[in-house]
Amino acid sequence: MSDRARRPVLAGNWKMHRLRAEAADYAVALRAGLPAEPPAEVVLFPSFLSIPTLAEALAGSPVEVGGQDLHAQPEGAHTGDVSAAQLLDAGCRWVLCGHSERRRDHGETDARVIAKARAALAAGLRPIVCVGESRDERRAGQTFDVLDRQVAELPEDPALLLAYEPVWAIGTGETATPEVAADAHRFLRERLGRRLGEPYACRLRILYGGSVTPDNASELAARADIDGFLVGGASLDPRRFLAILGAFAPSGADPRGTP
Ligand code: PGA
Repeated sequence: MSDRARRPVLAGNWKMHRLRAEAADYAVALRAGLPAEPPAEVVLFPSFLSIPTLAEALAGSPVEVGGQDLHAQPEGAHTGDVSAAQLLDAGCRWVLCGHSERRRDHGETDARVIAKARAALAAGLRPIVCVGESRDERRAGQTFDVLDRQVAELPEDPALLLAYEPVWAIGTGETATPEVAADAHRFLRERLGRRLGEPYACRLRILYGGSVTPDNASELAARADIDGFLVGGASLDPRRFLAILGAFAPSGADPRGTP
């Protein structure tokens, strides 16, 4: 077993990639390479349309499935949107809230992101709330102000997770250094500790996201404040995703779990 304070989570965000047959093939490859006792909780976020296929193909494995977004209302006249109950019904246990691409493409505000997280929690889904500063905000020295604002209304719930995803590192190949990421994670934990109490902040899992690859995963995973990854591009290949999972294996252990 690992000596980490919190069980890590490895999440793969497929964004608008992959068809259903590809999702089924991926599940076969992932199951074949997965250690008997994965060193992290593993979750995949496919497109809405591939959720049932992937959930079925992963049934009985430790890998869970989540939605990339949800509507804050339980049901209603919201064309094109998906509710928490519909995600659960399709086989999801998790959902992403406020990914920077949703904030950018769909004008999602902090208030709307928090409303979505509350709706997810109310329905029994585990939300991963995504936060992070843009390149301009970092250059202007506003990183901590932005993070502070994005988590100001974060609900206190043990089922909720945070993902720190600096916008300048997403899909760019430019990963935050372990120092930069760990600084942001420490800031978030301290800030939430002051507002919601130390015990809650100590248990809260904060994932890092932004150009995580098998090459940089171990260095990032070694940081005590980094409790897992939200991986985009490198999650599309099951071999690369499994290699990233290996970064959470206790040092010296074979990530495949074989003797
Ligand atoms: P990336 O995406 O790993 O391709 O940078 C991360 C994310 O958007 O969650």
